[in-house]
Amino acid sequence: MPELEQAHKLDQASKLDQALAEVAAEMADRTDRGDVASYIPQLGKVDPKKFGIAAVTNDGRVLTAGDADQAFSIQSISKVFTLTLALGNVGDALWQRVGREPSGNPFNSIVQLEHENGIPRNPFINAGAIVISDILLAGHQPREAIGEILRFIQFLADDETIIIDREVAASERATGYRNFALANYMKSFGNLHAPELALGVYFHHCAIAMSCRQLALAGRFLANGGKNPATGHSVVSAERARRIGAMMLTCGHYDGSGDFAFRVGIPGKSGVGGGILGIVPGVASLAVWSPGLNANGNSKLGSIALEKLARMMNWSIFAP
Ligand code: DON
Repeated sequence: MPELEQAHKLDQASKLDQALAEVAAEMADRTDRGDVASYIPQLGKVDPKKFGIAAVTNDGRVLTAGDADQAFSIQSISKVFTLTLALGNVGDALWQRVGREPSGNPFNSIVQLEHENGIPRNPFINAGAIVISDILLAGHQPREAIGEILRFIQFLADDETIIIDREVAASERATGYRNFALANYMKSFGNLHAPELALGVYFHHCAIAMSCRQLALAGRFLANGGKNPATGHSVVSAERARRIGAMMLTCGHYDGSGDFAFRVGIPGKSGVGGGILGIVPGVASLAVWSPGLNANGNSKLGSIALEKLARMMNWSIFAP
């Protein structure tokens, strides 16, 4: 690599390292942390003071600050990976059973489903992700589909220690009346084969536990045109990586997606465990975690941290 280019990269890396430390220090001091999700009882036990952030750059640096190595429940962030897998299995036929428009409604809303004949608006709202689980099942046993999802995420992060938190999965199943309602309702329209089994898969992939470091590593193919930048191996085509990014930007934060795009300017996917995966195409994969949520069910400080970081680094998909 030419000397000047190398010096520039080093400069950017130390700027990013400093920016992460600054953001983490600022977030540690804040008292307005939002409320930890308690509708899944097991998630309500998490310490709201936690804050972690990680960045994996396309040139191979892994930079972290705060509680970046502590595992948390990735919840809906898993939907990025199940969508990727399902597209790999059935291709564009997937879009016959799930839409790709922002919902403008909460993630567990049921109202739109009636108007739209049981076809969920997008793969990231709960109903859409339950259909994706049904697609991944396709004749398999739930434990096979769950194993496939977990192994895919372990492969992306290059980390076999990633596990499913069975207590979180059981906690969600015991209280998941809305998700059961969504699944049964879609079955009545013929858009689900096996509600009970699809929910089993869904609850388990939402209960995958990962740290910010592991999550940012798992997301790096999306920042690098579909290829793992460490190995050069293709995970998805460049076109598919762009399209998954488009879904994240428009639907990744539910009825808060417009606000996240406005404030942060990069594709992102949130989870009620307080994590957010953010993608800076061509540059880096980011993960942040702060368990307290805002009114839309997205990490309150996580969104603020990404907004600050993007501003400090001049990151935006709309930047010239
Ligand atoms: O189905 C649920 O309600 C959860 N397993 C996932 C929801 C979620 O993460 C929404 N994200 N902000």
